[in-house]
Amino acid sequence: MEPPRKPRRLSPSQVKLVKLIHVISAAGWLGGTLAGSLALLRVHNLPSDSPTYVDAIALLHFVDTVVFIPAGLLLLATGAIYGAYTNWGFLKNLWIVVKWILTILVVALGFVFYFTDITFIVLQVLLILVIVILSIYKPRTLRKSSGKR
Ligand code: HEM
Repeated sequence: MEPPRKPRRLSPSQVKLVKLIHVISAAGWLGGTLAGSLALLRVHNLPSDSPTYVDAIALLHFVDTVVFIPAGLLLLATGAIYGAYTNWGFLKNLWIVVKWILTILVVALGFVFYFTDITFIVLQVLLILVIVILSIYKPRTLRKSSGKR
């Protein structure tokens, strides 16, 4: 019988590259959503046929297409790479499980309330801030295992 195969792990420099892509995407996600919600706050009381409103929405759609959607896909992809090819795993740390849930929630909110409701866009910003805080602090109470990766 063949011995069980060791799970494939990325080299330290590959993990660094994943982290670089992950963190740049995170910055794009937060920045894009923050800019979008501020622009929407600025115009949401204007009539929907006013030039300022029309321009702001057109810009938001552009930012959504070139920043938010690609960054979200990269975050999900790098999150999956962390899970499959590094010691972080998928379910070893509760803070990572919570990140998965919140990330999917932010994506779902984006699909359902596509620039239609200011409340949900502000909620998206808050959720992304919570995700960033979780990422930096990796709270102990949310850790199933400890130790440096
Ligand atoms: C799909 C869900 C996600 C998973 C599974 C995930 C997983 C991870 C993992 C394993 C790390 C590595 C931590 C380290 O090496 O120290 C990390 C870092 C990080 N993540 Fe995520 N992440 C996800 C989504 C996000 C999102 C949506 C954001 C923010 C918009 C984000 C922001 C960050 C930041 C800023 C770091 C760097 C933290 C540090 O260097 O200490 N992540 N993430």
